[in-house]
Amino acid sequence: MPYQLPKAGTIEVVPSILSSDFARLADEIAEIESAGVNMVHLDVMDGHFVPNITIGPPVVEKLRKHSKLFFDCHLMITDPRKYAPIFIKAGANNLTFHVEVEKNPAELIKMLHDMGATAGVCLNPETPVKAIEKVAPFADMILVLTVHPGFGAQQFMPEAAKKIVQVRKLVGPEIRVEVDGGINPQNTPIVVSYGADTLVAGNAIFSKPDRVAAIEAIRAAAK
Ligand code: DX5
Ligand code: ZN
Repeated sequence: MPYQLPKAGTIEVVPSILSSDFARLADEIAEIESAGVNMVHLDVMDGHFVPNITIGPPVVEKLRKHSKLFFDCHLMITDPRKYAPIFIKAGANNLTFHVEVEKNPAELIKMLHDMGATAGVCLNPETPVKAIEKVAPFADMILVLTVHPGFGAQQFMPEAAKKIVQVRKLVGPEIRVEVDGGINPQNTPIVVSYGADTLVAGNAIFSKPDRVAAIEAIRAAAK
């Protein structure tokens, strides 16, 4: 079956194209694909939930024609219910929404599953793990943000990363725990020791001339 979220238990390095050259997106994705990654992280911003605007459904739809990677869409938007179906239709495979904007996260997860997507739930750095306690067992992935959402290339927040320990304890081994924000080969061993298995990295990959080597460096640090 195409486009499966890799089963929990493997370390996945997930490049975030936010720091890539948007004028050469297909080539940028082909380059990370050649490094053997399974997933690519697409940061969707609406200018409301975060003070930035990035990728919309038409871009996802065009990229779908160029890539066989699993599209991991991080919806930093105030209305995920409204836009989720449009992103899925465009070719998104996993949709991660923010718990801070959703009144009934379990219902939204069911909606996403019914539409054939997997579902992630994201916590801002200041949001406590308690906020996802009830819904976590229904999700395919929990995303712990280690920067304030909105921009790439920010400083990793060590205090926010500590929540990964609680999240992993809460979800057990079968649900992916993703970490996003300022991830690099230096802090990778820390977040992996906390229990993260899905490592998003933007700047640490796309600021380097050799993206394949940059991905390898994160993989090696995770071992
Ligand atoms: C932050 C985004 C991140 C960002 C990560 O708003 O959710 O996915 O692209 O980029 P780096 O790795 O540069 O912090
Ligand atoms: Zn993200």
